[in-house]
Amino acid sequence: MTQTTFTPRVFSGIKPSGGLTLGNYLGAIKRFVGMQGQMETIYCVVDMHAITVWQDPKELANMTREVAAGYLAAGLDPAQSILFNQSQVPAHAELAWIFNCVARVGWMNRMTQFKDKAGSNAEKVSLGLYAYPALMAADILLYHATHVPVGEDQKQHVELTRDIAAKFNHDFAADFFPLTTPVIEGPAMRIMNLRDGTKKMSKSGVSDMERINMTDDATTIAKKFKKAKTDPEPMPETIDGLATRPEARNLVEIYAALNDMTAEAVIAEYAGAGWGRFKPALADLAVEKLSPISLEMARLMDDPAEIDRILGQGAQKARGIAEPILRQTYDIVGLLRS
Ligand code: AMP
Ligand code: TRP
Repeated sequence: MTQTTFTPRVFSGIKPSGGLTLGNYLGAIKRFVGMQGQMETIYCVVDMHAITVWQDPKELANMTREVAAGYLAAGLDPAQSILFNQSQVPAHAELAWIFNCVARVGWMNRMTQFKDKAGSNAEKVSLGLYAYPALMAADILLYHATHVPVGEDQKQHVELTRDIAAKFNHDFAADFFPLTTPVIEGPAMRIMNLRDGTKKMSKSGVSDMERINMTDDATTIAKKFKKAKTDPEPMPETIDGLATRPEARNLVEIYAALNDMTAEAVIAEYAGAGWGRFKPALADLAVEKLSPISLEMARLMDDPAEIDRILGQGAQKARGIAEPILRQTYDIVGLLRS
């Protein structure tokens, strides 16, 4: 079946399951802001995804505000983009149920994020954690989004979203959902843990020294980069010299992404330099780029009512797009509306 042409529309989301990291900023938020103005953009704080693992109810609303503050402080403009939290648009959960009935158990069993998160504890994790990718497909397809900027770790989930859209369109003989394109490009698609270059930097890693938090102050940022694991070799002459040096490559990629340059250009500038020269330069650059954002986040967090107002207004706009698409979906499936 040839696909209808859908209006270009961006959707992406971040879970309020802990403080934002440099990985979230470079792999997601900075790129979300960059897509603003190029096409219609819809950005979400996915609180219903967060509760697939335990979240303290006393903290969750504040974490939701903090992620929203991170988006806004990094340059997201509520006049240009829709910004809201997922649970204020019930259509996400409603469409997710339909997708639970479209997706196959065999597909879900192949999801590497579920396998990583469940580990040897697969019998005890929530049913929601298993169904998580179907809710993510609903987030995206509820807006007929065509482009989804994400970090490398989410590629498989966006591919599953395409599979769900294709199976729905086929089963119901309806050319209704777009086949969404994951947008994974640039030097920062997978920012690694500062203590182990083979693991992703994440909100939930055990040691705080593994990650840069968006709220870290200048001294903490400098200390974390200084203590970041490296190797005894100086900076190579060419990018190929980083192939078997994951920690070194990670620091080069962070520098490149923060400074809007390629990793090749960073190597050209620092070829032969030791870590004693590169790490302080990286720390200075990180402080220069991140501290205006963390200051603005703190300022926004002083006025939670204003954040709530922005999210409420965004949710209203989001419902305006989502509800007609959900109603059409119900009609296609044959669910009676009277
Ligand atoms: P999460 O924090 O899991 O909700 O992720 C939100 C977004 O940030 C997703 O698009 C992720 O792919 C992206 N992201 C999270 N951690 C990293 C990382 N270490 N490197 C690059 N992107 C990341
Ligand atoms: N699963 C994504 C993550 O862990 C978050 C997310 C939920 C998302 N819904 C989405 C990302 C829709 C892009 C589009 O990071």
